[in-house]
Amino acid sequence: MTTRSMGRFITFEGGEGTGKTTQIKGLRSLLEARGLDVVQTREPGGSPGAEAIRDLLVNGDTERWCPATEALLHYAARNEHLEHVVRPALEKGAYVLCDRFSDSTMAYQGIVQGLGSEPVTTLEALVVRQTSPDLTLVLDLDSALGIARAKDRAKDKAGERSGGEDRYERMGEDFHQRLRAAFLQIAEDNPGRCVVIDASGSVPEVGAAIWTAVQDRLGLT
Ligand SMILES: Nc1ncnc2c1ncn2[C@@H]1O[C@H](COP(=O)(O)OP(=O)(O)OP(=O)(O)O)[C@@H](O)[C@H]1O
Ligand SMILES: [Mg+2]
Repeated sequence: MTTRSMGRFITFEGGEGTGKTTQIKGLRSLLEARGLDVVQTREPGGSPGAEAIRDLLVNGDTERWCPATEALLHYAARNEHLEHVVRPALEKGAYVLCDRFSDSTMAYQGIVQGLGSEPVTTLEALVVRQTSPDLTLVLDLDSALGIARAKDRAKDKAGERSGGEDRYERMGEDFHQRLRAAFLQIAEDNPGRCVVIDASGSVPEVGAAIWTAVQDRLGLT
């Protein structure tokens, strides 16, 4: 059983190159400037076991896994991450900012890769239980623009991701268009938890929209 009374759990979701990793850092700075304890993490990964599973998911042939296997790997990684990082941080009262979470599994494997929403919901009940996010920021951007941004980042030596880790980026254009629609559908189905953020503006513009959403939804001043 999880204690959820103290910390806050905020997840960033959206397609490839929409700006999740860029914006999570901005929100982290704003929260830390208010003296709040912040734990920044990511999925798949975020703990040693989960990072080992990440390697299986973000590298290699696009067709290497059946959708069900892929969803199980994501939830296996998520179980490790929740147990070793997210729940302990929430229990000590931190703001946990997570770069992708369950909505990505629902969007990629459940909706776009055709596994269906029911198996993903079943895994969610088994693994996440009460640890669902307080707020999910869904970064929405034209998928071709997102992929173009992600490709530019790959060329950028200062980028944080070293070579590889592009298995999902290599999936086709149609895949990424359907992914955008899937995230919007998830947001529409979960209006109490999700806020759709227009990610087409500049980094500061998108950051301002995120900060407004965080203040509104979590009552920060
Ligand atoms: N608002 C923006 N305008 C222009 N470029 C941006 C903007 N936000 C981020 N970028 C750039 O786009 C690239 C992708 O951004 P980022 O890595 O934050 O996306 P992401 O959503 O984390 O992608 P992925 O899903 O692949 O992890 C980076 O090179 C980043 O500097
Ligand atoms: Mg990223």
